[in-house]
Amino acid sequence: MPQVFVPKEIADGETRVACTPETTKRYVKEGLEVLVESGAGRHAHFSDEDYREAGAKVVSGTDADAAWGTADIVFRVFPITPEQASKVKEGAILIGFMSPHKNLDSVRALRDRKVSTIAMELIPRISRAQSMDALSSQASIAGYQAVLMAATYLDKYFPLLMTAAGTIQPAKVVIMGAGVAGLQAIATARRLGAVVEVSDIRPAVKEQVESLGGRFIDFPLDESGEGEGGYARELTPEQLQAQQRVVRQKVVAADAVITTALVPGRPAPKLITKDMVEEMREGAVIVDLAVEQGGNCELSKSGEMVVSDGVTIIGHPNMPTTTPADASLLYARNIQALLLSFTSDGEVTLNLEDEILDGALLTHNGEVRHGPTAEAL
Ligand code: NAI
Repeated sequence: MPQVFVPKEIADGETRVACTPETTKRYVKEGLEVLVESGAGRHAHFSDEDYREAGAKVVSGTDADAAWGTADIVFRVFPITPEQASKVKEGAILIGFMSPHKNLDSVRALRDRKVSTIAMELIPRISRAQSMDALSSQASIAGYQAVLMAATYLDKYFPLLMTAAGTIQPAKVVIMGAGVAGLQAIATARRLGAVVEVSDIRPAVKEQVESLGGRFIDFPLDESGEGEGGYARELTPEQLQAQQRVVRQKVVAADAVITTALVPGRPAPKLITKDMVEEMREGAVIVDLAVEQGGNCELSKSGEMVVSDGVTIIGHPNMPTTTPADASLLYARNIQALLLSFTSDGEVTLNLEDEILDGALLTHNGEVRHGPTAEAL
């Protein structure tokens, strides 16, 4: 019977867990044995007892240490450390976020131990893989939370309110980047009653923005902003300046700005300059979801709340961790959909012909299969 191990996440600020009592039940039903390290679900409010009731064996201390070396499959949320990687059983399967370019030592250790590492961020974004798409499930939470955070720190209401003491005008919100996080941010800000304006450079996005009740900021580009795989491409410095000129007047008039703009494999485009922030009104808020990729705002700092000229700039590096229960629930379901797609009659078999596995398998059989990571090594 294949054994799954769910170690406690130890990274600073990581509140999520990769397996919930709900998914535990399903694995047990499918003929897998589930070992959960005591306290693994603590921050997401799943107790050891919840896991036991779902059919897991809860392990701690030396038993948990030993589980690293016996498990056939290890689940993670946060990228594994080199030390943990060196404890994974030879030939085992590891599933989790990897951020391979930032964790080359871990990749090396996993390669040397012939571990089959499935990196959740490398799962191809094809229709069949939607239920496994952890980038989307977590980005959507980030977009929602970014708006709630902006609303919390803003010095005014979001909705239009008619009160006995007169009318309150709705907040003006600008959202930069309308991918998965941006679209959820639009929907959330609209539900709270704000007036929402949106900038993106992929033409396909306009209709999606408008269907959610946002106003699209038209910005004529001499060539499409869409690059490979449906993602954005990097703008030239001239195009970026032209975009800044167009959005400037919207940004300086905004009460809240949520930035989510990313280009795969490149630093986040700098869309909000220092002098735009200087022109914003005191009390306005910027939430920069691109902060880990360098930030869309020149002044944002990862893990900090910066106040500059009275404008609060929030740079939370891992926003989904602020909603640990639902972020875990969705992430655990993403992993479940993935693992069960290659589990049958209690047997787990990796089929390298499968398009999803072929894309997501970072290391396998002593090799690094992901081109850019192999090059970086
Ligand atoms: P992302 O996180 O890479 O980028 C976020 C947004 O920033 C994108 O909409 C991008 O166009 C925008 N952006 C980049 N440079 C910008 C600039 N200079 N100014 C303004 N905006 C800028 O993208 P994400 O959210 O991971 O996904 C993007 C798209 O991928 C989705 O909208 C969808 O079309 C596609 N996708 C497809 C899926 C599927 O078919 N299963 C699943 C998820 C996403």
